[in-house]
Amino acid sequence: MMAEEKELRVQKIKEGTVIDHISAGGSLSVLKILGIMGREDNIVSIVMNVSSHSLGRKDIVKVEGRELNPEELDKIALVAPRSTINIVRNYVVVEKQKPRLPKMIKGIVKCANVTCISNSNEPADSMFYVENDDPLRLRCYYCSRYLEKDDIIRQF
Ligand code: CTP
Ligand code: ZN
Repeated sequence: MMAEEKELRVQKIKEGTVIDHISAGGSLSVLKILGIMGREDNIVSIVMNVSSHSLGRKDIVKVEGRELNPEELDKIALVAPRSTINIVRNYVVVEKQKPRLPKMIKGIVKCANVTCISNSNEPADSMFYVENDDPLRLRCYYCSRYLEKDDIIRQF
């Protein structure tokens, strides 16, 4: 009870999505990759650097009135692979998901090589092998250029 009271810096939400167990400092990357700039009508709460049993320190993002779609969950997997995504309805967590990183990423991020065929007018969608998930390392299917988390965050 005491621990919970200490950690409860932000209210429970009625409806929406709670992205929990984001590694400390990662919440801004999550917002960025989701395109949440604070100009939407939804209430968004961010908690940084709270103590967590499993992570030491963690960030939490709460987006009210909105349930994230599968494409958005894939994006979170890129920047916060160890997070937990909770869907809340009428104050209750009805769904808890771990973001899953597929073996290949298609279309979400761009290759950093300007001469890559995926950046030309050819109808070739970007495509990457996931070589490592944490720290994230992608390799372009077409030109083999490596892409890391910072390269990805910069694109959003
Ligand atoms: N949460 C919330 N509003 C609610 C319900 C839950 O903001 N109405 C938040 C909690 O504060 C927590 C997260 O959603 O950050 C997950 O809630 P819950 O599953 O109740 O917590 P735990 O059991 O501790 O989750 P886990 O096992 O994933 O650590
Ligand atoms: Zn490429």
